Amino acid sequence: MPLWIPGDRRARRMTALLCLLLMVTLAACGQTTTAPTRTPARTTVVITPAASRAKPAIFFGTAVQYQLLQTDLQYRRIASDKFNLLTPENDMKFGVIEQRQGTFDFARADAIMTFARANGLWLRGHTLVWGQDLPDWLVNGHFTRQQTIDILKTYILTVVGHFKGQVIAWDVVNEALDGSQLKNNFWLQTIGPEYIPLAFEWAHQTDPQTALFYNDWGDDEIGPKFDATLSMINTLRSQGAHVDGVGMETHIGFGSVFRPEDVVTNMARLKAAGLDVEVSEMDVQLGGLPGDSNTKLQEQANIFGQVAAICKAAGNCRSFTVWGVCDRYTWLSQIVTSPQQPLLFDVNYQPKPAYAAVVKALGGA
Ligand code: XIL
Repeated sequence: MPLWIPGDRRARRMTALLCLLLMVTLAACGQTTTAPTRTPARTTVVITPAASRAKPAIFFGTAVQYQLLQTDLQYRRIASDKFNLLTPENDMKFGVIEQRQGTFDFARADAIMTFARANGLWLRGHTLVWGQDLPDWLVNGHFTRQQTIDILKTYILTVVGHFKGQVIAWDVVNEALDGSQLKNNFWLQTIGPEYIPLAFEWAHQTDPQTALFYNDWGDDEIGPKFDATLSMINTLRSQGAHVDGVGMETHIGFGSVFRPEDVVTNMARLKAAGLDVEVSEMDVQLGGLPGDSNTKLQEQANIFGQVAAICKAAGNCRSFTVWGVCDRYTWLSQIVTSPQQPLLFDVNYQPKPAYAAVVKALGGA
């Protein structure tokens, strides 16, 4: 199946518009001679559901924020025209959706879904169970183990049910490992390790068609964390859980050091285990790269391009997503002080060498 080519969308829209104009003109001509008194048909805008469109061989995605899609037109344009897959950066997280106990607020996530569908883009679900971005009522609620299980079950059934048939994948469990140990997060403390198989079970029960992923940083490197990830998933599967693959966040310079052979090896190990992989949150911090600013930009392009090419060649890599639309808005500015500029478009919304490198590696125009 051919890779979806970002630059094609405008041409396709233009062709569709011309066809529409032609059809309207022809219809109008016909009506004047054959049925002058007929009431004109009402125009209905039909948005094709994601599931009924042909999927690209590899999705090319970006994380987006509801707020910025509302307020920044250039951000919106890049998101809709240059990518074919969107991941809500924060708007599908527990702390947003169930900010108040028992009230599920899908307004922001739905707005992103509507934006995606209106622009012919697919959606990735991120994330159901994470130790961060949890609401106060939950972490300070002193719930018993059983109460917490019930809260999580209701949450997963409700959220996965709401987006049933609309997301190509869910990051079901996010960043549950600390090195090779389970991270001591809220879920482990209140439920115990069973929160992981339970989450996968409830998600699969609710939407058996969607792909279910374990997502974490550092899985692009050979080492104990990746070994633990693979062994955890193998154990889960041997116990009957449905797990489709691993989201490799690939935060180069923040979470990971880039060694291409590590990415190749880890993707191949997942493939040998019958698992898929998605590059789920890639960014490459500029600060840590050698040379002057031009050299840094070239090296950044080189790293992005290599990961995209490895993903394309792997055979089990379904998508390549960058964690943000442009350097003007990057999550790294909240946590590191070194120069970041970690994305494919710069602070002035211009494509960087890294954008061309990724498009080339994925096989686009
Ligand atoms: C980050 C967002 O980018 C920030 O805006 C937010 O403040 C915190 O979360 N790993 C993940 C993502 O799985 O959900 C995180 O996103 C980045 C690290």
